[in-house]
Amino acid sequence: MAGLTLQGVVKQYGAHPILHGIDLAVKDGEFVVLVGPSGCGKSTLLRIIAGLETTSGGKILIGDEDVTTQQPGDRGIAMVFQSYALYPHMTVRKNLSFGLENLSLSKQDIDARVAEAARMLAIEPLLDRRPKQLSGGQRQRVAIGRAIVRDPKIFLFDEPLSNLDAALRVQTRGEISRLHKRLGATMVYVTHDQIEAMTMADRIAVLNGGNLEQFGAPLELFDFPANKFVAGFIGSPQMNFYEGTIRSVAPELLGIDVPGLGLVNVPVDGTSAAVGQTVSLGLRPNHIHLASESAQHDHTFRFRADYAESVGTETYVYGRIEGNSTATIVHLPGHVAVAENDLLEFAAATSHFHVFNGETGLSYAKRRADGSLIAAA
Ligand SMILES: Nc1ncnc2c1ncn2[C@@H]1O[C@H](COP(=O)(O)OP(=O)(O)OP(=O)(O)O)[C@@H](O)[C@H]1O
Ligand SMILES: [Mg+2]
Repeated sequence: MAGLTLQGVVKQYGAHPILHGIDLAVKDGEFVVLVGPSGCGKSTLLRIIAGLETTSGGKILIGDEDVTTQQPGDRGIAMVFQSYALYPHMTVRKNLSFGLENLSLSKQDIDARVAEAARMLAIEPLLDRRPKQLSGGQRQRVAIGRAIVRDPKIFLFDEPLSNLDAALRVQTRGEISRLHKRLGATMVYVTHDQIEAMTMADRIAVLNGGNLEQFGAPLELFDFPANKFVAGFIGSPQMNFYEGTIRSVAPELLGIDVPGLGLVNVPVDGTSAAVGQTVSLGLRPNHIHLASESAQHDHTFRFRADYAESVGTETYVYGRIEGNSTATIVHLPGHVAVAENDLLEFAAATSHFHVFNGETGLSYAKRRADGSLIAAA
């Protein structure tokens, strides 16, 4: 087992820069999830780590060893893709053992590895079937098994569950997490699924346009996004953003005026802020609640509903803060009856507001629950 270090990894295809210098240190045994919009370079980065693509600059280290120019087969990495790419004419057993045959392993060793992987993934009864006789979930497990038998130092997964239906995704997600704990292997996992990212990751790396925006524990990214991009990308439904103006600056409190909200005093480190600056004020849908349930330091405001969706366990209300034209989503627990044009009284804790620089999008440092400041990016 080994950690993985990327140092200033650059990639360009012809004149097109794709990755702009990625620095990332994945610890030995860590599960890192890579997220970002389509086309931001996630698959390219995985392929570079695996050695399937060359780098245009920078270094890749596995443990202490520089593998930047090593052949894929020498890196001790196994990759699992969205498309399982099993050999259709071979049995499951053969699909699992095939990649091992050109390694210098005895037949007994190969059989033992196949048996162990099959046991881990509960695919023993399927060993003599061919891929077309398997369900999608079973095929994906065989593809994972093919990675396990190679006993790699590092596993790379590129959206491995996106072809599976919802129930199977949940099940296979759990299996991969258990597998990670059991093998203690280093894993880098690409997904578009917020729940997968939040539940599976030790740390999440957010990529955007070939740049690493933030790398941290799931809840650290959710509670303390370094910038507006991460704030909008992590969390579903998305954070609401309102344009505002700084009216007062104290060392630990910014007074921000937002149409409809009035003056909101947000507990953030405003050392780099100045009166008159434009900011983006962020508030998550789940941090807005009914004013009738508000606490002492909450900021209250009026809200005009367009419509609401209730799924029984929770209600999503769509509309606008009265006096502000920005579309807003509110996520309330339980079933709340809301009709079109209803005027609602809402509230939010001032500590739940996020403040981002209007030009750079960088966060003004926020406070943790224990009062300590989070450094801004
Ligand atoms: N072989 C190639 N030649 C030229 N451009 C490429 C090549 N492969 C990828 N790209 C470009 O590199 C960028 C990043 O692609 P990549 O596949 O890494 O994105 P991604 O983040 O995995 O996206 P998705 O979420 O859609 O899978 C894209 O703009 C893509 O068009
Ligand atoms: Mg991709």
